[in-house]
Amino acid sequence: MNKPDVSQIMERNAELAGEIVRLKRRRGAIILAHNYQRGEVQDLADFVGDSLELSQNASKTDAEVIVFCGVHFMAETASILCPDKKVLLPDINADCPMANMITAESLIAKKREVPDAAVVCYINSSADVKAESDVCCTSANAVKVIESLETDKVLFVPDQYLGHYISTKVDKEMILWPGFCPTHVKIQAENIIDKKVEHPGAKVIVHPECRPEVIALADEVLSTGGMCRFARQTDAKVIIVGTEVGIIHRLSKENPDKKFIAASQKAVCPNMKKITLEKVLWALQDMAPEVRVTEDIRVRARRAVDKMLEIGRVDPKIASLS
Ligand code: 13P
Ligand code: SF4
Repeated sequence: MNKPDVSQIMERNAELAGEIVRLKRRRGAIILAHNYQRGEVQDLADFVGDSLELSQNASKTDAEVIVFCGVHFMAETASILCPDKKVLLPDINADCPMANMITAESLIAKKREVPDAAVVCYINSSADVKAESDVCCTSANAVKVIESLETDKVLFVPDQYLGHYISTKVDKEMILWPGFCPTHVKIQAENIIDKKVEHPGAKVIVHPECRPEVIALADEVLSTGGMCRFARQTDAKVIIVGTEVGIIHRLSKENPDKKFIAASQKAVCPNMKKITLEKVLWALQDMAPEVRVTEDIRVRARRAVDKMLEIGRVDPKIASLS
């Protein structure tokens, strides 16, 4: 059999998108997609955003069904916020390896070692870990959330690199869990240096999950939502982007007069890419796979998420190195 060509794939995607939109209306569903999703999934979504924007959107929607095109912790957060809604994750195996670098048991043990520290968990964590935390944060509001705490000592889990970045911005003692994002660590300082040589005058924006030596080379350190806002506002015509490559789709679509260069083509999150149009359609047909959190964990995890939502409205720029 011959390989389908690009026009056949586009035709098939358009057919699938039509079927999804019809079924979505019948089911009373909303489709939320993270900025790293495949382009065709982003194009179909009712809302595309970063982790904070997606959880804010989930908490506000009137839809009875949320189809979450992202990874497991994101769907779980939607379920924590909306227990009366059905939250569907089109591929139940779309997981975040960093979120799995800590368990509730290991966190409980660490808390015993540092009983005087406030526990702040990155939203990239399981509901069980959120339930053991004082407050949650995303990359968009991490500095603001931690600055707002009364204690001077913070146990930050699970991303050591986001934690390290925050520690350079706040006047607190930060104890860092040794987790990391396997996708963002693939972005190397030399990738940024090479791209800067190829594109003199380009601005460099990176995600705070990157290694410190990559962050040190950036003009701006931003959440994915912050990157989208920066791209709209900047006068720069060429922007080097240090995060998962899926965001280039949205950046290019919203800013056709600007050029976006991925810092590294290796920065692909295989889990984000597990969500396809077919799986979105099947999820709506089967009303599965569903993500739901047990009520005792949900109530405890919700406290940490609610506290974040109260404190940390989106900072357009979580911080600037310039
Ligand atoms: P954002 O909240 O900035 O979209 O980041 C989510 C994420 O998983 C980054 O790897
Ligand atoms: Fe997790 Fe990294 Fe993928 Fe984000 S990019 S979902 S942190 S593995």
